[in-house]
Amino acid sequence: MRGYLAPQIHNDARGRLTVVEFADLPWVPKRAYFLSNSDVSLTRGSHAHKVLEQYFLSLQGDWVLRFFDGNSWTECELTGGGSGLLVRPGLWREISTDDPHGVLAVFASQPYSEPDYIRDFSEFIDWKNS
Ligand code: TYD
Repeated sequence: MRGYLAPQIHNDARGRLTVVEFADLPWVPKRAYFLSNSDVSLTRGSHAHKVLEQYFLSLQGDWVLRFFDGNSWTECELTGGGSGLLVRPGLWREISTDDPHGVLAVFASQPYSEPDYIRDFSEFIDWKNS
């Protein structure tokens, strides 16, 4: 992990407005995607990225992100709307929520590239040890 990074949040009577100034990130995003409509009994992720850096931002609902660096697991909670986490490459991750209406935004440093993924855990361990 690089650590938590809060977005700008502007609340008023009309609701919440969440802002990500790309200049506040350590890299300029090339892509954004959004996780929603979750089956709360299932986990997403279960992969690692070799190069990709990401900024996870909870827009709705509580999300749990678990990371394995090859030695130990770290658990991060993104609670409610407007909680953000910068994630470095080389970490196995598992993502879940208990809110079927939860929305998690993900800003990514690179375009989608399947070769950047490691989707097999034992392959990830071998890659970390190599
Ligand atoms: P996947 O990476 O398996 O989801 P998760 O983030 O939960 O591990 O992606 C699901 C599908 O969406 C898979 O077929 C790849 C595709 N996909 C894209 O085409 N572009 C993207 O930017 C992303 C993140 C996924």
